[in-house]
Amino acid sequence: MVYLPRLSVIVGLVSLTSAAIVARQKEGDISLSAHGEHSSVEGSRPDPGRTTDSELIAEVAETIDQKSGPGVDEVPNQPVPDTIVTVVDGEATGEKSARQSRPAGDRARARRPRAVEDYTQVFAGTGTGASDRDASVQGTAYLTFTLVSNSTYNIEACLDFCSSVSGCVFANLYYEFNNYGLDFEASEQSNLKCAVYGEVHTAVEKTNFGGQQSYPAPAPLIYIQHSGGWGINEFVDPGVPSGYEYVFGPINGATSAPGYMGFVFLDRYDVHACAVECNQRAPDAVGGYCQFFNIWTAVVSGVPTTYTCSMYYTPTDASTATNTGQWNLQVTASRGYRRKNFVIDGGFEGIPCSGTVCLYPSYANWIGTSPPGGTDDATFWYFAEWARRGHGSASLGSAPGFDALPGTITPRHPLATIAGKQYRIEFWQHSSHNSPESQAPSWVDVIWNGVVVLQVRPGYSPWSRYTVVVTASGNDILAFQGGQFPAYTFLDDISAWQL
Ligand SMILES: *[C@@H]1O[C@H](CO)[C@@H](O)[C@H](O)[C@H]1NC(C)=O
Repeated sequence: MVYLPRLSVIVGLVSLTSAAIVARQKEGDISLSAHGEHSSVEGSRPDPGRTTDSELIAEVAETIDQKSGPGVDEVPNQPVPDTIVTVVDGEATGEKSARQSRPAGDRARARRPRAVEDYTQVFAGTGTGASDRDASVQGTAYLTFTLVSNSTYNIEACLDFCSSVSGCVFANLYYEFNNYGLDFEASEQSNLKCAVYGEVHTAVEKTNFGGQQSYPAPAPLIYIQHSGGWGINEFVDPGVPSGYEYVFGPINGATSAPGYMGFVFLDRYDVHACAVECNQRAPDAVGGYCQFFNIWTAVVSGVPTTYTCSMYYTPTDASTATNTGQWNLQVTASRGYRRKNFVIDGGFEGIPCSGTVCLYPSYANWIGTSPPGGTDDATFWYFAEWARRGHGSASLGSAPGFDALPGTITPRHPLATIAGKQYRIEFWQHSSHNSPESQAPSWVDVIWNGVVVLQVRPGYSPWSRYTVVVTASGNDILAFQGGQFPAYTFLDDISAWQL
């Protein structure tokens, strides 16, 4: 049912004039007599916000050192530590060990078992002649290392090791001489180190020539021989973090869109760690919680240097991924992911309308209900002037002003949540449609599976953001109940974000 604005239907809401409505009446869009007070909600609509600070990201990427490899005394076969956040909004964290753990289950991905043929040699070693001297890789995304039998230059054992380590895409195999620990302490009885990485490295990154004193002086220093590198032929898709949708990539452009919330550097390319950063980022005063992230590899002078994770409160797509780099920095492997809103059409943008104003008691995505004796106590508006963003909003309180009963809105379909997970309900409400006196008793309750989880008693208020965390049972029913004419409650941009 479509109500095109008619006096009998919209007296209540439209009689509470806003300047915009007056203007439209003058244009003849709405044939109503105007009276009542204009209520300003100025300044409460989202501004587009800052755009990505690409210069700062590039500047920090030029100075950060995330390159490493196995230490002289490092114990082999250690589990790969969790991804580390090395920089937050330009400030180094100094983190050396795991700062966060990824949500359980996100890492488990079906992997085709890999074989030696799935790797290609990137660079060769020097050989093992008496005077041959080589260097091992000092590179980003170092994961762990093992010692393989040095009865031969054991490429197969090393690549098998890489295949067994989650996230490994590259192996560096080399002999390390004059390392006391390898010669006497390690049970492997081998000096053939196999270091594995989450990034493919090249020969220019062979910068560790040894030179450390491992045996007591004046014994000779450590030196490296025959350092070869192998990378995987086909990159494994990094997967989609739980609670997110894949949007674009991999491409060589980073997002330069508005709604920017800042960035972190990660010690490896980890979409799951980036999602955790987005989930945990403090909300923006204007835009609310993080709704989109862009992860990419910063290659400085041809060398992978860091992994940028930038965050946004406005979802975007590949069309804004226009930053290909600055100076000697290149953007590579850029991917975008949008946080899934478990409330379908939480912005009420699905309200159909061929004109300027339409209103419905229900529509395809949402159901409005009035209590017995109530008339249009919950209505859905297509009207840009009344929306926080876009065209759609919902109002609680009798639209025609016939009664002072509360209305209820609920999504047409239960939320497709995962039982046991927590979700953050985020929404904007305003109760400034009418005069401050009329709006004083404004109220709205958030109801989750029949239980009131948040009571909002805002009085007279411009668009303001509210949140409440709930636990899902699966197929959850979300509802908003409130409004009592002439104290209207308007709702817009309702979300449920998985935590
Ligand atoms: C193999 O490793 C052991 C332990 O480090 C070392 O003593 C031996 O010389 C190595 N053999 C070769 C051929 O490098």
